Amino acid sequence: MDKIIVEGGRTLKGEVRISGAKNAALPILIASLLTDGINTFSNVPQLQDIHSTALLLENLGARVETRAGTVRIDAGGPIQYEAEYDLVRKMRASVLVLGPLVARLGKARVSLPGGCAIGARPINLHLKGLAALGASIELTHGYVEASAPRLKGADIYFDVVTVTGTENLMMAASLAQGTTVLRNAACEPEIVALADTLIKMGADIQGAGTSVVTINGVSSLKAVEATIIPDRIEAGTFLMAAVLTKGNITLFNTEPDHLGALIDKLRLTGAEIDIDGNNIHIKNSGPINSVDIKTQPYPGFPTDMQAQFMVLMSIANGTSMISETIFENRFIHVSELRRMGADIQVSGNSAIVKGVPHLSAAQVMATDLRASASLILAGLVAEGTTQVNRVYHLDRGYESLEKKFAALGAAIQRVK
Ligand code: EPU
Repeated sequence: MDKIIVEGGRTLKGEVRISGAKNAALPILIASLLTDGINTFSNVPQLQDIHSTALLLENLGARVETRAGTVRIDAGGPIQYEAEYDLVRKMRASVLVLGPLVARLGKARVSLPGGCAIGARPINLHLKGLAALGASIELTHGYVEASAPRLKGADIYFDVVTVTGTENLMMAASLAQGTTVLRNAACEPEIVALADTLIKMGADIQGAGTSVVTINGVSSLKAVEATIIPDRIEAGTFLMAAVLTKGNITLFNTEPDHLGALIDKLRLTGAEIDIDGNNIHIKNSGPINSVDIKTQPYPGFPTDMQAQFMVLMSIANGTSMISETIFENRFIHVSELRRMGADIQVSGNSAIVKGVPHLSAAQVMATDLRASASLILAGLVAEGTTQVNRVYHLDRGYESLEKKFAALGAAIQRVK
């Protein structure tokens, strides 16, 4: 398996283009299952989870053609109703086919995703919602079997804010009969991006981006052309790299409005940030101030940036508290950061981080995408040469991360 070798201590300078958002692209590609004809999506990031999604869609019978950042999907032919364990196991977001398949075919058989490194991650709310839309749900042999001749609109309340749960039900309700209201819906930009695409396809959706989303079902949806929004988590990772390395970077192809919570916190650390349309310019020259964060659903501080922010706090002046409220087990990076000299104590869902003058390089690895990114960031400032193993997780969600860092002046390379 590939490794990434980082020699710490370089200041990052220059420009970096932010790729399309993984978590927007996944549901949007899957929404093709609701349409006839050829969909064309551009600004699709080239990364492992996108390949897994293409495989999943092909396995279901769709025709998928990928060229550079453009993906064409034709789901107009016969579509199968079963998503196998081997495909779902590789990527939890595969469960997003459940809603579209039941809506289109009247039945679906999808492997249950199971837990993962960051928590148990049940899909009970996806299933509760589909049941409310009239689907009969059975769990057998590790699979969810859902069937309904035609889904019927319903009033659905989510006990917990769930991003993919909201997306699954928004897609299912688009082809249901009558009106569906989703309450306590997720408000993430990726939800709005999916809703915008569904609306282009002919769906009638109001309120996406707020906690109440209303969907008036229609009888069919048509294929579209759509562009994937910029990846706010990738952008956030580069912003943090600039602060860490006392760098001076311009990010282009970003959506600064999606980064409000992080930009606020980074300004408090002492970073200078200027926004100019879709470009963000960031510079840091002084010491890093310690700042507390608490992860929350959007527009709160994203859980997907918690690990990277912890690296920043590891070398800040003073002590900070990082609280993780979304996933019960998302501190996998802590033990690896400690091996690099960080002073972090975890108690329940909070971590107390006492800034140290410097981190020291080590061999590290992580079993989660964002935790892996945090180890690369730590490597950029650690004294010595850090080796990040099991890069597989990083490749699931970042497009050419090491190449982009190298272009900014980092001493970083991938070793096969
Ligand atoms: N939850 C339930 N029941 C459900 C669904 C969720 O209890 O039926 C709980 C989860 O266990 C968790 C919380 O609700 O404690 C929020 O989970 P959510 O469903 O929002 O997470 P997700 O939709 O599975 C997406 C992103 C994650 C991101 C989270 C939170 C995609 C493909 N994945 O996951 O991204 O961390 O929202 O923002 O959109 C990543 O990109 O590295 C990543 C993990």
